[in-house]
Amino acid sequence: MTLNTKLYTLLFLSLLTFSCKDILPAKEEAVQPQQKLEVQAQENGDAHSYANISEIKTDHLHLDLEVDFNDKIIFGVARHTMTNNGTDTAIFDVSGLDIQRVTLGKEKEIETDYIIGEEKGEQGAPLAVKIADSTTQINIYYKTTEASNALDWLAPAMTEGKVHPFLYTQGQAILTRTWIPIQDTPANRITYSADLTVPKDLIALMSATNPTEKNAEGKYHFEMEQAVPCYLIALAVGDIAYASLGENCGVYSEPSLLEAVKYEFADLPKMIDAAEALYGKYQWEVYDVLVLPYSFPFGGMENPRLTFANPTLIAGDRSSTSVIAHELAHSWSGNLVTNASWDDFWLNEGFTVYFENRIMEAIYGQEIADMLSLVEFQELKHTLEKMATSEHPEDTRLKLDLENRRPDDGMTDIAYVKGAFFLKTLEDTVGREAFDIFLNKYFDTHKFQTLTTEDFIAYLNKELLGPANISFNTEEWIYENGLPNNCKEITSDRFVKAEENAKAIAAGNAEKLNALNRDTYVMQEWLAFLRTLDQQEIDTTLMASLDDQCDFTHWGNAEIAEEWFGLAIKTGYTPVKDELEAFLMKVGRRKFLEPLYEALIAGKHEGLNKEFALEIFEKAKNNYHAVSATTLREMLAI
Ligand code: BES
Ligand code: ZN
Repeated sequence: MTLNTKLYTLLFLSLLTFSCKDILPAKEEAVQPQQKLEVQAQENGDAHSYANISEIKTDHLHLDLEVDFNDKIIFGVARHTMTNNGTDTAIFDVSGLDIQRVTLGKEKEIETDYIIGEEKGEQGAPLAVKIADSTTQINIYYKTTEASNALDWLAPAMTEGKVHPFLYTQGQAILTRTWIPIQDTPANRITYSADLTVPKDLIALMSATNPTEKNAEGKYHFEMEQAVPCYLIALAVGDIAYASLGENCGVYSEPSLLEAVKYEFADLPKMIDAAEALYGKYQWEVYDVLVLPYSFPFGGMENPRLTFANPTLIAGDRSSTSVIAHELAHSWSGNLVTNASWDDFWLNEGFTVYFENRIMEAIYGQEIADMLSLVEFQELKHTLEKMATSEHPEDTRLKLDLENRRPDDGMTDIAYVKGAFFLKTLEDTVGREAFDIFLNKYFDTHKFQTLTTEDFIAYLNKELLGPANISFNTEEWIYENGLPNNCKEITSDRFVKAEENAKAIAAGNAEKLNALNRDTYVMQEWLAFLRTLDQQEIDTTLMASLDDQCDFTHWGNAEIAEEWFGLAIKTGYTPVKDELEAFLMKVGRRKFLEPLYEALIAGKHEGLNKEFALEIFEKAKNNYHAVSATTLREMLAI
């Protein structure tokens, strides 16, 4: 028995002496010493979970829940079927939940004692349940609350259709505990099922087997038979329609968007074929994409069987489909082979960015794939520069130490792009053929498992570097700050041309300026063009001329909007103001909000400055998911 469980046992004993549930201590009295909580955190190898999974762990979770849009709560019971190694305490993670009672047993349920420890910020609190050493079934009755940050409850006005409300969840990294009492560590994989009741005019979808049509009772049953880390449990409820794109593959969205979504993601079956040809069979049977309302804080989220996607991807020209390639790639890297803790996040995202690029190369060719990589590499360079002088220069290492910090702090270009370039450099060193054989075997050997960075290094040495007698600076890449000198270089002639064009135009070349129109470049070249302008001395006169040529201000492509609005804020080009405000009011994707708010906070021009940022945030904050709102609050120091 661990120290932690012993402490809880002592507490239970003292409770049981009085043997009366009514005298359970109030939350404040149940506060546990910090020291003990940290002992627990280190014990399970995950600094962000209290769960004692080495003593007792959930194998299967069944959710019996009702979704109430009037009170904006989900309530019901989470039934955990567990493997118990003979402990008398089971510890779950909870945050922002109203726990009502806990029972033991399957056919016959018997109420038991429980204690909720101290809330530690976003990490929440341990929920310690008194059990017998033979207990394998724990049922937790609960309600979500306003503090259930995974949940985004949208009023009809925030939807495309404007008639029905909408709800979706975002579990990664540690938000699942805000809507389900659960052992919320990626180190544990569970199967799950659910019986959900929702308003009759809405449909419910999960990261599981899904309906394609509404039913008259508003009752839905779900099964996820492959074991998943619980950050991948997801739910969406709304007025949603389905369209097939091919065998075992389709899209969901609000009805009025469905045709556009079908068009945008039409290459999905090809992507699945390309991914399988690269790294082995798709293991989740069905791959669907659900386009959510604009508040969704990410471009995409790889919920198994049902990727959640941001409507900003529906650009009309398939220019953002690499995000879908990315989420699809997670079906291998992340969902099949999972980071053991958030310190190993690069194992999820670095592999996925690498794999995403290989899918894009297979379908659209190397020139496009290289441009996509270069856009990311520019962002990595910027991040490395910023981090070098920040409070945490060690965040430029692939392997992180996020103890006492938020897992979100690890969601940077380091995990994504440095991680991917580590793999590109490895590929370059050993050759593509050998590398692909290695990756195939890596995914197959570790499928449905979780891995630490150290597990990966050992496997890499054993399977790839050792046998071929290749020396590689793996340790430098993973455990040292910055970017190693041997990082693979990517070049693109088309990028160089777009950059030269931007420089010439900034220097006053009218002929080149007048030759510009929206078809001059593909989206990635436009990003290179605009980023180059950002490094030149440009004024509002040039901004106005560029706008005359291409109407950047009203283009409607979110990637281009982000760069253009950024330039406008920097130069003080105020004609964008209304469109910028509309964009910030509507789009909740953090990747776009963060740089725009940052530019406004640093803004030196009347009307496009911090004051404006604060004013907009006040108006827009209810339109954002908690994930984005929290980041922006921190930036604005509210
Ligand atoms: N799994 C991530 C999103 C995520 C990471 C959510 C960490 C919460 C915590 C997803 O796969 C992702 O990386 N999305 C990117 C896509 C991009 C890199 C192509 C996004 O949303 O921008
Ligand atoms: Zn990802």
